[in-house]
Amino acid sequence: MKYLFTSSIVISFMLSAGLAVSNPEHDEEGIADHEAVSIQLIMPKMDAELGRELFGSKGCATCHSVNGVGGEDASALDAHDMEPYMNPFDLAAKMWRMAPFMIEAQEEELGEQIQFTGDELSSIIAFLHDDLEQHEFTLESLSPEMQEMLKAGHGD
Ligand code: HEC
Repeated sequence: MKYLFTSSIVISFMLSAGLAVSNPEHDEEGIADHEAVSIQLIMPKMDAELGRELFGSKGCATCHSVNGVGGEDASALDAHDMEPYMNPFDLAAKMWRMAPFMIEAQEEELGEQIQFTGDELSSIIAFLHDDLEQHEFTLESLSPEMQEMLKAGHGD
């Protein structure tokens, strides 16, 4: 008990000393002393048609189907039974929640984790909420490489 008490004092001393040393630009309350800059958040263009191409070429469709086209390793991502008002960030949050399973499956099936930019993701998200654009999704929407993968039985 005595040891526990002494070591917690030492740790809190080290923490406060560490804070003072590692934050030279912050005052005592930890507030940065430079002037605040104003950052404007710009919503990217959410291009569902581009999203359709990306969904086919990035490899999403090797595991997920849309419009009945694609693999069955993971849930179908059809928009037709969604609510009329959707928060696009919820889709990114779902991907984040499922990331451990998805990344493991991607490394196994595709040999690597799929990468995309924020712009690409926003177009994929637009596509995944666009029922009409999804009706245009056919086997030809998959890149030749991804068509081969599906035929070879990946994603079944
Ligand atoms: C190699 C297989 C694989 C690939 C490729 C893949 N996913 Fe997934 N995905 C999964 C698995 C496994 C899950 C978790 C189980 C599930 O939801 O079906 C998942 C879950 C998801 C979810 C959450 C679904 C839900 O209802 O919770 C979304 C959204 C998603 N993936 C989107 C994508 C997008 C977009 C791409 C392409 C950029 C992609 N996935 C590529 C396997 C894959």
